[in-house]
Amino acid sequence: MLSMEYQPPIDIRQVTGHVVGLGSHRALQSKTDCRGIITQASRSLAEISGFAVDELIGQPHNILRHPDMPDTVYYLMWQTIQADDEFFGIVKNRCKNGDHYWVLTRVAPIVREGQTQGYTSARFLPRADVVPEWERLFADMRAAEQRSGHDDQRRFAPAVEVMNRFVRRHGYANLQQMVLSSRG
Ligand SMILES: Cc1cc2nc3c(=O)[nH]c(=O)nc-3n(C[C@H](O)[C@H](O)[C@H](O)COP(=O)(O)O)c2cc1C
Repeated sequence: MLSMEYQPPIDIRQVTGHVVGLGSHRALQSKTDCRGIITQASRSLAEISGFAVDELIGQPHNILRHPDMPDTVYYLMWQTIQADDEFFGIVKNRCKNGDHYWVLTRVAPIVREGQTQGYTSARFLPRADVVPEWERLFADMRAAEQRSGHDDQRRFAPAVEVMNRFVRRHGYANLQQMVLSSRG
């Protein structure tokens, strides 16, 4: 009889804890429609994330999500861009193989003749020294999300407060200022 080694089902959110850099790439770019479905992805984003450009196009942008990222960051991102503003954040993204990379991300609406057509995003390398404090912040925010008993928008308030305290403690007026000062 053939002995077959047991293959566990592949968990798409499986992570390795291994961090990868951006190599020689300056920016990783993508565009989405209004619902966050990827319509364009740069070759640099494909290369670093480990997905082919064709695997990214047509997928929801959460295909890149790392489980360490708090929901609240994405709640703030969508609140901001749906209000026709640009969002700046530090983001930990998961590669196809479970590795991860840290990026300083700008997401902004694409507006033509007063109508939002979709969103555009560009990701840059953050300074290496800021990464450990964002890692701790995200853990604190996830803990705050779990403690909050609500299942509607109120559930984000405690983690937003954790983030606001973090920004103030570092001497910045707002998240955007702090993120922009972290470019590598
Ligand atoms: C232009 C654009 C770029 C985005 N880039 C990322 C990204 O790099 N990583 C990520 O996890 N989510 C990104 N998002 C947010 C996702 O659409 C999604 O809200 C997030 O991954 C959380 O998804 P979930 O709540 O379904 O898990 C982006 C959204 C837009 C509109």
